[in-house]
This record gives sequence, C-alpha cells and structure tokens, in this order.
Amino acid sequence: MTDPSAIPLAAARAHAKVNLHLGVGAARADGYHELATVFQSVSASDVLTLHADDPSEAPGSVTALRLTSGANREVPLDESNLAWQAVDALVLDYRRQHGPRELPGVAIDLHKAIPVAGGMAGGSADAAAALVAADAWLAEVYGLAPRGVDKLLEIGAGLGADVPFTLKGGSALGTSRGDRLTTMMSRGPFHWAMITNARGLSTGAVFAKLDEMRAADPEREALAPHLDTEAVSQAMIGGDPHQLGPVLHNDLQPATLSLRPDLRAVHEAGMGAGAIAGIISGSGPTWAFLCADEDSAQEVVDEVSADIDAASGMVVTSPHNGAHLLY
Ligand code: C5P
Repeated sequence: MTDPSAIPLAAARAHAKVNLHLGVGAARADGYHELATVFQSVSASDVLTLHADDPSEAPGSVTALRLTSGANREVPLDESNLAWQAVDALVLDYRRQHGPRELPGVAIDLHKAIPVAGGMAGGSADAAAALVAADAWLAEVYGLAPRGVDKLLEIGAGLGADVPFTLKGGSALGTSRGDRLTTMMSRGPFHWAMITNARGLSTGAVFAKLDEMRAADPEREALAPHLDTEAVSQAMIGGDPHQLGPVLHNDLQPATLSLRPDLRAVHEAGMGAGAIAGIISGSGPTWAFLCADEDSAQEVVDEVSADIDAASGMVVTSPHNGAHLLY
C-alpha cells in the first residue's frame, strides 16, 4: 500500500448525471436496449487520485483501490470496480499503440460524493475520472500530448453505457446504448433535490422488468417506448423549470416502481414538499425532483428525509461539465 503523502501521479473529477428523458426501445441481441435519452451532468462529483505503487504482479497495473470518504453503501474495491478496469484498459491501450514502458503499479484513491447504486452514474463517473487521470499520467510517461476526452469515449463505451456521457458532460442526447452522444443546448441552472434510498437497485433487473411488463401487456400506452425528445429539448433551451417539469419522462419508471412500490411514498412526499416534478433518475431508486430554486430544493431534501426513514438527499444543479483533470 502506498504512503498517502506520496506525490500523486494525477487526479481528476467527474460529475453524476440525471436523465431528463429516458426512452427505452427494443431489447437488442447483445442484452442492451436501444435508448433515446437526454442527459445532464449535475454538480455532485467524485474525485479520483492515482498514486505510484510497487509494480503489480498481475497483468494490469492497478494494485489497490481505497475509499477516502464515506459512501452510502459498499463500493467494490477490487477489479470489479469500473475505475480499476478503466486504468488497466488505458495502460493496455497505450502499450499497444506506443510500445511497452517501465510503469509503476497504480493505487487509486476514490473520494465519493455521488450516491452508490443510485441511478446517477456514480460508478461510470469514477471510470471517466480514472480515464482522464490515467491519460494525463501516461501521456507524460510517453512524452505525448494527452488524448483528451473525445479520444477516450470509445474506451469508455467499452466499460459501460454511461461512461461516455460522464466523460463529456454538459447536456447531450444519447442514442444506441446511450453511448452515442450528440451535444444539446440548455439554459440553466436547473435546481434538483436528489433523494437517494438506503436500498439500491440493479440496472439490469429494472430493464428486464420493463421487458417483462411490455410482453405481458403489449397494448398499454404507458409502457410504450417514448423516443421523441423534442419537447424536453425545447424546454431545456427555454431554461424555465415550470416548462421543463411537465415534459420530464422516464420509460423505466413503471418497472422501477413495480420492483419497489415503497418508492411511491417518496414521490408523494417530494411533491408535497413543493417540487415542480419528480422523475426516477435512470433505473432508480433515486428520485430527481425538479424545483423552482435552490431554497425550495433544500426544503424538499429536508422534508422528505425527515418523513421517510430510508430516504436521504442532496441539492444539485444542472448542467455541469464533464470529467476533467485537477492536477
Ligand atoms: O452498461 P452498464 O453496465 O451500465 O449496464 C448495466 C445493465 O443495464 C446492462 O447489463 C443491461 O442489462 C442494462 N442496460 C440496457 N440497455 C442500455 C443500458 C443498460 O439494457 N442501453
């Protein structure tokens, strides 16, 4: 394990996301679904720092991952963590393209503020920060200019469907698996109360539940794919939360609520506390409540976390920037 006072190789920050629209199309042969989704980065962010460690005996270069903050639930601290995979993938890619170099092992310090397993792409943001930090470090070792975010998108997509957006940030339309991105215009800031839940949800299980519900009830309009993003796009440009609220939409929401009926009470509490609209964030269990301003978002957080034991919350704004190097 490294000495925590050792000079870091590089550090980067990446932000969580909220989906203002999440349209889910057909299931594909590769197990993913075609999406038409509108992402915005939010102000909640994680910081990831790389330190030199003794060289790894394993084929990759990451030797350890440790948490330097609290987290609302367990974070995997091994190779199953996307940030670990991201560093190893980029080292491999630099070696493949530019030849072998003597490299130290790499220990990762992760400071988490994004809720874990909350539908806010926290794990993907950590992978995005890992790619940006590792790119800066490897570019220096190889005497090259860093590739930059746009050239990391492909490697990011190989790690997970939300990694490209957390790399790029801002406002974007995501198609295909949600990983093909087109930048969108938005005014802001929009103010949100993000209400997380003590019990997480598996993204794959929520998508599978939606497929099951659609197969059982093919005529039900509420379960049909909503792939038109025009209304939300107009409202983002307008910048008025009262215009945006009514057009927020998530096709996964019926599936999330079917798996977790307890989350309905959170919606009721948030709306009762004065939110303009509430939408499940990604696959959940987090609710994203759009509010008129920062004070009313804070009120929603305070009231809902007082009312509901399993709920806790944070106030965030959107849009924000993508993953970026700190040093
Ligand atoms: O890419 P990621 O690992 O974040 O996705 C987790 C799971 O969510 C996938 O294994 C898949 O079951 C589901 N998913 C999907 N269609 C997408 C994105 C995710 O079915 N476009």
